[in-house]
Amino acid sequence: MSLLMIGCGKMGGSLLTRWATSTDHKITIINPSLIKAPKGVTVTQTIEELYDQRFDIIVIAIKPQLIETVLPAYRNHLAESGCIISIAAGYSVSSIEKLIGEQAVMRVMPNLPAQIGRGVSALYANSRCSPSQLETAAALTDAVGYTHLATSEDELDRVTAVAGSGPGYAFEIARCWIESAIKLGFSPQTAKDLVLNTLGGSIELAMSSDQSMEALRDSVTSKNGTTAAGLATLMQDSKLETLIESTVLAAYERALALR
Ligand SMILES: NC(=O)c1ccc[n+]([C@@H]2O[C@H](COP(=O)([O-])OP(=O)(O)OC[C@H]3O[C@@H](n4cnc5c(N)ncnc54)[C@H](OP(=O)(O)O)[C@@H]3O)[C@@H](O)[C@H]2O)c1
Repeated sequence: MSLLMIGCGKMGGSLLTRWATSTDHKITIINPSLIKAPKGVTVTQTIEELYDQRFDIIVIAIKPQLIETVLPAYRNHLAESGCIISIAAGYSVSSIEKLIGEQAVMRVMPNLPAQIGRGVSALYANSRCSPSQLETAAALTDAVGYTHLATSEDELDRVTAVAGSGPGYAFEIARCWIESAIKLGFSPQTAKDLVLNTLGGSIELAMSSDQSMEALRDSVTSKNGTTAAGLATLMQDSKLETLIESTVLAAYERALALR
């Protein structure tokens, strides 16, 4: 299949790196400032360089604010039975349809660990997408990690708030934890090694276990021990729970505002 990716920055680039090696699609990217790409990928800077080419899949990987001005020019570059896959946060299927007409449109919400094949992507397809188009799109998201098939666009926006924006929350939590280790006297490098290995190991253990998070937490907490003392502060007045809940809700509300 022929695939055109419009925009190839942090997220588009992460997907492209994996897609270039794990799929047979003939990939072209268009990005004004980009000159290098993985082997086998065609790079263009302007739409004129596409001449009259039509693509089976057009991936929108530019910032949502640019879509309205950029996308309409690509209408004639979509094959008759082609589909649009947008990775833009919050930008709705109906907003895309307003710009390019009634087409098969999918929204994919990946997250940054896609770069290392450990991403989480939600996939939502409008009713014009065929089962084989959905299968092709799911193969693309499977190539960069775990795929969640969303049954409504609202579900996709909720996945965005939980997983799409999730790496940002994870990095900020890790940053605070590392800062606290530095304050206890460790060098920045040792603090980073201690925290990231603790987080990484705990997450791997949780993923390989059938136990709930509560059970795992309790299994490492002895009465009157050090973990119990730390958790008593962390869980005090459910402040952490409330904070995380409002963090995810704020991201969801932003996704709604971008629709
Ligand atoms: N980053 C994430 O974690 C993440 C996660 C999920 C979804 N997304 C979505 O992915 C999309 C891209 O985000 P990003 O973080 O990858 O942003 P980004 O790094 O800024 O990438 C956007 C790219 O689009 C290029 N571009 C700008 N105008 C263009 C045009 N007219 N034609 C073609 N390319 C153009 C930019 O090139 P220049 O640098 O030359 O301007 C840039 O390389 C957004 O819609 C975002 O919502 C991002």
